[in-house]
Amino acid sequence: MAAEIISGTDMARTIRTEITEGVQEMKGRTGRVPGLATVLVGADPPSQSYVRMKNRAASEVGIESRQIDLSEEITEDELLGWIEGLNADPDIHAVLVQLPLPDHIDKGRVLEAIHPAKDVDGFHPVNVGRMTVGDPAAMIPCTPLGVIELLMRSGIDPRGQHAVVVGRSNIVGRPMGALLLSEQRGGDATVTVAHLLTKDLASHTRMADILVVAAGAPGLITADMVRPGAVVIDVGINRIEDPSREKGYRITGDVRFDEVKEVASHITPVPGGVGPMTIAMLLSNTLRAARALIPGSSG
Ligand SMILES: NC(=O)c1ccc[n+]([C@@H]2O[C@H](COP(=O)([O-])OP(=O)(O)OC[C@H]3O[C@@H](n4cnc5c(N)ncnc54)[C@H](OP(=O)(O)O)[C@@H]3O)[C@@H](O)[C@H]2O)c1
Repeated sequence: MAAEIISGTDMARTIRTEITEGVQEMKGRTGRVPGLATVLVGADPPSQSYVRMKNRAASEVGIESRQIDLSEEITEDELLGWIEGLNADPDIHAVLVQLPLPDHIDKGRVLEAIHPAKDVDGFHPVNVGRMTVGDPAAMIPCTPLGVIELLMRSGIDPRGQHAVVVGRSNIVGRPMGALLLSEQRGGDATVTVAHLLTKDLASHTRMADILVVAAGAPGLITADMVRPGAVVIDVGINRIEDPSREKGYRITGDVRFDEVKEVASHITPVPGGVGPMTIAMLLSNTLRAARALIPGSSG
């Protein structure tokens, strides 16, 4: 039997409605709304489009969004000065610096400069540490948080299950493993994290009750690598050249959707799976940050 297809698009729409209500409630209580600042350095077209998308999504739920476009030539100290200003700005509760940054800027210094309470991407070492030890105060990176939300809202609880994560990046694989392992909602799994040096990847993926793939390797996961009845979450977003498309490319995941859907019990599509959930979690983290920073904003 073919797998149930989990629509991240539909789920994200529901979450955005909930966030809109949360923002309205905050406005009613305090007269204030959450403020999100997105900082973009340079003119990288994909980054420009991500930032535009994030700001549009924020405005749609009633979050005040401020886009700060800075020149590719900006010095590290100047950029740190901007972040300091946003940290001190009472109308800004969430600060996001779009990555990648130009080579002459030390990414670590920049991410560490964002106040942990406003760090809606969850990349500050304080938040990484808090997440790793299961501190509920942690700001959690949006993509892995989106995956947990997507699982739980689909009635799939990782508790006691064997979760296999393919990929160990700081923004997806590693925090994904930590969340699945944590003792919090959406955790309590037994976790394997695989990467490029993993020997015989298929022997690990075939053990998974829940398989989360974040490798950036188009079509890496084939049907024979998936245990019948497993849940398959495809985080990959890969651009594949396709002259038949208007843009000259199409977007594909790390999982061979057409064949794996015949084996899995649940599967996420690309696009329309984890991607929309990531943006929804950015809005959710922004509302959460604002609630923590605006006195009297939650009941
Ligand atoms: N849906 C979303 O919202 C969202 C958000 C972020 C990223 N993404 C997508 O998710 C994918 C991963 O992103 P990322 O930033 O985590 O990428 P990344 O920094 O390039 O990390 C990829 C990870 O996958 C591992 N890997 C790559 N090829 C592999 C293979 N053949 N077998 C086993 N492991 C392999 C790498 O191993 P090593 O560590 O050994 O190199 C690395 O740990 C990309 O397609 C990205 O576009 C999607």
